[in-house]
Amino acid sequence: MSRDAKARQAGLFITFEGIDGSGKSTQARLLAEHLTAQGHDVVLTREPGGSPGAEEIRALVLQGDPDRWSAQTEILLFTAARRDHLERTIRPALDAGKVVICDRFADSTRMYQGLSRGDLRQMVDDLHRLMIGVEPDLTILIDMDPAHGLERALSRQTAEERFEDFGVELQAKMRSGFLNLAEEFSDRFHVIDGGRDIDSVARDVTATVSARLG
Ligand code: ADP
Ligand code: TYD
Repeated sequence: MSRDAKARQAGLFITFEGIDGSGKSTQARLLAEHLTAQGHDVVLTREPGGSPGAEEIRALVLQGDPDRWSAQTEILLFTAARRDHLERTIRPALDAGKVVICDRFADSTRMYQGLSRGDLRQMVDDLHRLMIGVEPDLTILIDMDPAHGLERALSRQTAEERFEDFGVELQAKMRSGFLNLAEEFSDRFHVIDGGRDIDSVARDVTATVSARLG
C-alpha cells in the first residue's frame, strides 16, 4: 500500500540506503541542513530507531550477542521498530507536510534480513505489506566499494557492530543486493557514487532531491 495522492502532496519521504560506511548518515545530515536552509520543514530520522520505542529496540538488535535472535525473530524486531517509528514520527510529519529524511528504511530489512541468513525476502515483504505498507517517495542509494565502506565503518568504533562484524563478504553481497533492488524499484531509487569526497556526493544528492521537489 502506498500513501494516497493527498498524503503524497502533503510531504516528501526520502530514504538513504547503502552498505555500512557508505556515507548515508553524513549525506542525510547535509541534505537536511541544505533543505532547512532553503526553508523546508525537515525531519531527520534513522532506522532502526527514530522514536523512543524504536530506539529501545535498536539496542536489542545492534548490541549484545547477535546470535541470541533467529533470522525470523530479527525480522519481527526490525519490523516492530519500524511500525513504532512510522506511527509516531514518520506519518505525523508527512501528514503535516514535512520532508522526512530517513537513514535506512525497509530496503535495509529486504537486504540484511532478507539476504544475509538464507533467502527470507518473501517473509520480509509479507510482513512489510501487513504491518508497514509504505514505500519512500525517493530512495538514494549511496553505492560504495565494500572494502572501503567497511574500513570507514570500522574506524567509527561504536558498540553497534551487528553487521560490520560479518566482514567484507557480507558487505559485497549487500552491495550487489542493493543495486538489484535499485532496478526492482527503479521508479524511486537513484544510485549515487559514494566513493568520492563528501562535497561531490552531496552535490549529486542535492541535485537529485531538487529535481524531485521541483
Ligand atoms: P553510514 O551512515 O553509511 O554508515 P557515515 O556517514 O557514518 O556512513 O560515514 C562513515 C565514516 O566515513 C564517517 O567517519 C564519515 O565521517 C566518513 N565519511 C562519510 N562520507 C565520506 C566520504 N565521502 N569520504 C570520506 N569519508 C567519508
Ligand atoms: P546504521 O546505524 O545505519 O549503521 P551504519 O551507519 O553502519 O550503516 O544501521 C545499523 C545496522 O543495522 C546496519 O549494519 C544495518 C542494520 N539494519 C538491518 O540489519 N536491518 C534493518 O532493517 C535496518 C534498518 C538496519
